[in-house]
Amino acid sequence: MTETVSPARSLHGVVSVPGDKSISHRYAMLAAIAQGDSTIYNFATGADCHSTLACMGELGAGHEFSEQDGRRVLTVHGRGPNGLTEPKRRLDAGNSGSTIRMLSGILAAQPFTTTICGDESLARRPMARIIQPLSRMGAQIQAKDGQFPPLIIQGAELHPIDYAMPVASAQVKSAVLLAGLYAKGETIVREPTATRDHTEIALAELGADISVEPRVVKIRGGAPLTGKTLIVPGDLSSAAFFLVAALILPESDLIVSNVGLNPTRTALLDFLRSAGAPIKVLHIEQINGELIGTLQVRASRIDGGTIQGATTAALIDEIPALAVLGATSKNGLTVRDASELRVKETDRIATIAENLRRMNVQIETTADGFNVPGGQQFRAAELDSYGDHRIAMAFAVAALAADGRCTIQNAEAACVSYPEFFAVLRSIAA
Ligand code: S3P
Repeated sequence: MTETVSPARSLHGVVSVPGDKSISHRYAMLAAIAQGDSTIYNFATGADCHSTLACMGELGAGHEFSEQDGRRVLTVHGRGPNGLTEPKRRLDAGNSGSTIRMLSGILAAQPFTTTICGDESLARRPMARIIQPLSRMGAQIQAKDGQFPPLIIQGAELHPIDYAMPVASAQVKSAVLLAGLYAKGETIVREPTATRDHTEIALAELGADISVEPRVVKIRGGAPLTGKTLIVPGDLSSAAFFLVAALILPESDLIVSNVGLNPTRTALLDFLRSAGAPIKVLHIEQINGELIGTLQVRASRIDGGTIQGATTAALIDEIPALAVLGATSKNGLTVRDASELRVKETDRIATIAENLRRMNVQIETTADGFNVPGGQQFRAAELDSYGDHRIAMAFAVAALAADGRCTIQNAEAACVSYPEFFAVLRSIAA
């Protein structure tokens, strides 16, 4: 599908974003292996989290959506720690790296063999990072060329490991912790730099025996999880597109309500503030161990800067939006240590560069990042998401600031995390 985006002067009003994708995946998986039902509010609307729900359904843990006072509510029927059943067909993770990587931790402990596959993009994404630790715990995993989906996972009685992760990855950490839930004894995961901690928070919330120190997480297997009522905060990574658009469009004044502000996810806000962006937190509270708040942002030309090291890992999903912002900043944006971008839903360094160049914006790429000089104008162009949701949304933002109407091919990719994105964008752009 091709979307046409016209230039705008501002984003105005109050907007809420769909439930956080990372947290929704975790709640769907953990609720399925908990005892009893869980009631989940504001579950992500995107296709990725529905892939997780469908996989859990194939494993015997059903769910349904209902309406309560105009709110969509998800009920997941937990099967208890040993209640999952052998699926009749292979599981389909769709476009979702989180689904295949995290769910593999649970599948590794089941007394049956599961095949899990995904779409063309997922079939190119590296899985050795989970195969290695889960194999050490006792599972047998076959993959195409030793590292690509489909994965054939033969579960086993797992033993605990002490695992120092070679890459900073919340998905890998989560896979090992989920497997650790089933292992006899204490599983330890050590991270090279801090990554999002939603799994640790959700596990503690549902009753797991878990302890967290800086960059070291320990889980003792065997403690049963109990289903409960859970509220998913809005997704800050989706809100990022609106925050960036509001900064760029000169007459903007936007409020984003009920958005997740977990400190392991707010590196974006820290960077924007350090570059001079006027972003205020109007309200903040804690629900199910996660911080949720309301943000206000007004138009402002930011300084730009360099993103590298641990910061790159902490805001990796926001880099497509930041690349667009960098081009309009005073001094430009340099991104380093971001080779992970090359193995996301697309090679994001390549797809960012391709679209920026189509808009007559200069960018130099490196193996692990890029440099976008500041003070540039976006020329109207034909853009392409290349099937990547965050590229579709980032370039919708660039299109709003362009000197004429742009088209975005394969814009339906936005549905992976935010199906309502283009409609909401139109409702707040003027
Ligand atoms: C995610 C972790 C990150 C992120 C991805 C979602 C998660 O990937 O980029 O979109 O929900 O745990 P890594 O596991 O590579 O850090």
